[in-house]
Amino acid sequence: MSRILIEGGIPLSGVADVHGAKNAVLPILAATVLNEGVNVIHNCPNLRDVNITLEMLKYLGANVQREGDTLTIDTRGRLGNHIPEKLMRQLRSSIVFMGAILARNKRAKISAPGGCELGPRPIDLHIKALKELGVKIRETHGYIFCNGLGMEGKEIHLSFPSVGATENIMLAACLAKGKTIIQNVAKEPEIEDLAAYLNKMGAKISGAGTSRIVIDGVERLDAAEHRVMPDRIVATTYLCCAAVTGGSVEIRKVIPDHLSASLSCLRDCGCEIAVGRDWVKLKAPGRLHSVSDITTMPYPGFPTDAQSMFLAMLCTAEGTSIIKETIFESRFKLVEELVRMGADVTVDGRIAVVRGVPKLSGADVSAADLRGGAALVVAGLAAEGMTEVENPHFIDRGYEQLEETLTLLGAKIKRLLD
Ligand code: EPZ
Repeated sequence: MSRILIEGGIPLSGVADVHGAKNAVLPILAATVLNEGVNVIHNCPNLRDVNITLEMLKYLGANVQREGDTLTIDTRGRLGNHIPEKLMRQLRSSIVFMGAILARNKRAKISAPGGCELGPRPIDLHIKALKELGVKIRETHGYIFCNGLGMEGKEIHLSFPSVGATENIMLAACLAKGKTIIQNVAKEPEIEDLAAYLNKMGAKISGAGTSRIVIDGVERLDAAEHRVMPDRIVATTYLCCAAVTGGSVEIRKVIPDHLSASLSCLRDCGCEIAVGRDWVKLKAPGRLHSVSDITTMPYPGFPTDAQSMFLAMLCTAEGTSIIKETIFESRFKLVEELVRMGADVTVDGRIAVVRGVPKLSGADVSAADLRGGAALVVAGLAAEGMTEVENPHFIDRGYEQLEETLTLLGAKIKRLLD
C-alpha cells in the first residue's frame, strides 16, 4: 500500500504553477455528450477523477485521446444512455451525466453516484429540478430511469445553491424546448466555466456566476474548443503549505479573484499577500495568528473545500480558531489524525475548536477523503520529524503531482510504493 513520506519543518520557497480545475473539467467533459463532434479541451489535469470520467465517456461510445493536458473527445455517432454502477459509484460528479445524456438522447439510465465520504450525498435537488423540467423519473433496484421526451423549459427555484444540481439543470435545459430560469443557483467559478464552454457550443445561457441563470433551449449544439479554468482549491492548498511552514512563495496560473475568501483569511493569519493578473505571492510570519471565525459558505463565501487545509494550518497558530462547516455533515474526519500529531482540536457537530500548539510532531496518519488527505500533508510539512500519510489515492483524485510540486518548493516529501 503506497504512502506519502514527509520530513517537516522546512519553510517552502520558490514558484509553482497551478493545473486546471478538477471541478470545472468534470462537468465540461460530461457536456461534450451534448454535441456530435470533435471537442478539444485544454488544461485538463491528469487526475483519478478525470480518468474515471473519461472511462464513462468511452463506455457511452465516445472516442477519447489525451496529448499532454489536452483532451480530444469525439462524440460523433450514437452514444448510449446507460452508465454502469461500477463507474457511477466511483465519482460524485458522475451524476451530471444524467442531465447530459437526457439532453442528447432524451432517455438515461444511471445509478446513484459515489464520491468522498463527507456525509450523505443526496441527489434530491437534482431529481426534483429535472422532474420540474418534465423528466419522468423512476428509481428501482438502485438505478434511476429517466424519460425526457416531454422536457421543456420552466422556472426552477433551488432550495439550496447546489453546484451539481445547477450543472445538471444547465446540461439538461440547453437542448430542451423553451426558456429555463433557475433561481438560487450556485455561483461558483466552475459554473461560469461550464456555461462558457456550453455557449461556445452554441447554447444560450446567461447569468452564470449570479444567483439567476437563464437558458434559451436550442435545437442542436456543435463541438467546441475550451481551456479549463485554474484550480482554485489546489492554489489555496499550495498557499497553506507555504503559510504553515513560514515560507515565501509565488503561485502562478491562478485567477486571484477566485481565491479572495481564502486570501482574506491568510491575511488574517498574518501572511503578507501580493496579487497580480494571474499570480499570488505569499510571505508567511514566523508563526501564524489564529482566526476567530471561519464559516464555510457557498461561493463567494469561504470554500468548504479549503476548510480542511486551513484547519490543519491553524493547529500551530498562536491562539484559538473556530471553524464552522455548514456545507457537509462530516468534514472533520481528519481531526483524529491531527490529534495523533499533537494537535489540540475538539469537534462538536459542525464546529471545530482549534487551540494552537507550538509544534506538531510527525506521525503515521491516514487520509479518509480528498481534502482531508491534502490537509494531512499540510500538517506533515509543519510537523517536527517524519509523517507518513496513508491512502494517498484519495489525494490523487484532486492533485496532479502534489509531491513533485512541493519538492520544487523545497519540501522533503516523496511517495513510498510498497
Ligand atoms: C461540488 O460537490 C464539488 N464537487 C465539491 O468538491 C464541493 O465541495 C461542493 O460542490 C460544494 O462547493 C464537484 O464539483 C465534483 P453540492 P456537489 O451539490 O455538487 C447537499 C472536492 O473536494 N445536497 O453543492 O456534490 C449536499 O449533501 C469536492 O473537490 C443535497 O442535500 O456539492 C451538500 O451537503 C468535495 N441535495 C450540499 O448540498 C442535493 O440534491 C452541497 O452539495 C445536492 C446537494
